[in-house]
Amino acid sequence: MPARVRSRANGKGNLKVWLDGKLKKYSDAKVPILTHSMQYGSGIFEGMRAYETKGGTAIFRLDDHVQRFQRSAKIYSMRLNYTGKELSKAIVQVVKANRLASCYIRPFAFYNRDSIGVGAWNAPTSVFIAAMPFGAYYGAGKERGIRCKISSWRRINSGILPVEAKASGNYINSIIANNEAKASGFDETILLSLDGYVAEGAAENIFLVKYSHLITPSASADILMGVTRDSIIKIAESIGLIVEEREVHKEELYSADEAFFCGTAAEITPVVNIDGIRIGNGKPGPITKLLSQKYTEVVTGQNKEFADWLTYV
Ligand SMILES: Cc1ncc(COP(=O)(O)O)c(C=O)c1O
Repeated sequence: MPARVRSRANGKGNLKVWLDGKLKKYSDAKVPILTHSMQYGSGIFEGMRAYETKGGTAIFRLDDHVQRFQRSAKIYSMRLNYTGKELSKAIVQVVKANRLASCYIRPFAFYNRDSIGVGAWNAPTSVFIAAMPFGAYYGAGKERGIRCKISSWRRINSGILPVEAKASGNYINSIIANNEAKASGFDETILLSLDGYVAEGAAENIFLVKYSHLITPSASADILMGVTRDSIIKIAESIGLIVEEREVHKEELYSADEAFFCGTAAEITPVVNIDGIRIGNGKPGPITKLLSQKYTEVVTGQNKEFADWLTYV
C-alpha cells in the first residue's frame, strides 16, 4: 500500500471491522446488549499500532501481540476459533481495508452469549478486530510530560486475577485509579502492588532513570508484561544502557532523575511530576528523550537492528 494513503473514514461509522471472519461496516457490527462479556468484563483484548514507514504501513510487533492475545485466552480457558496465523492475517486485512497509513488496532475476543448466567465454561466466543486513526494518547503530554498521582487503590494481584492476561475486567482497577487521579487534577495514576512496590500506570508500564541506569518494576509487582516495555529494554541495552528489572519503592520514583511511561498507546510519555513532586528538573530528561527518539526510529522502520519487529501490510 502506498505510504501516503490516508484514511478515508470520517468517524467510526465508515470504518471496516472484522467480525468472525467477515469485514463489516462499523455500524453493522453489532452484538446483543446482554452479551456476556459486556455484562461481566469477560473479554480479552490486544492493542497494537501500525506506523507509516518509507516501505508502507507496518504493524509493530504483530506476532508478540497475537501471542499475548492467545495467552490471555488460554489463561481464561477461552476457546479462540482462530489460529495465531489466521488472527495475524485478519489484522493485516483490517489495516489494509481501511487504507490507514498509521493506526491503533484493537482485537477483542468475547463470549458471544446473551444470557444472565456468569458461567462461561465452553461458551461460544467471537472475535472482532477494529483499526482506527489514533494520535498521541496523552496529546501534548507526550512532548512536555504528564503529572501523575500515586493511587490509593492497589494494582490487582495475581492471587485475585491473572495480571498477565489482558482481560477487560482487569481494567476496572485501572479506571477507578485513573478517575481518582483525574478528580484530583492529575493526568494519570500510578498504581502500587499489593506489597507496596511501584507497579504501573493505568495502561502503561513505568521506567525511571537514576545515575543513568534504567530501572523498571519486575513481574513480581504484578504488572502487565508490556510489549513496549520489552522493546524499550532491548533498545536501551542496544545503546549500552544498563537496565535493572527489580522492585521499586515509591520514594525512588520521587527522587528519580527521570521517569516515563511506555505502552502501545502511550508510546513513550515523560512523567515530570508525581504527587506534586518534580521529577528531576520537572522537564522530560535526556535519556527519556533519547529512548523516545530511538523508539520512533524503530517503529517507523528507520532502525535496521530491529527491522524484524515490523510486519508490512
Ligand atoms: C495495564 C497495562 N500495562 C501496560 C501496558 C503496556 O503494554 P504494551 O506495551 O504491550 O502495550 C498496557 C497496554 O496495553 C496495559 O493495559
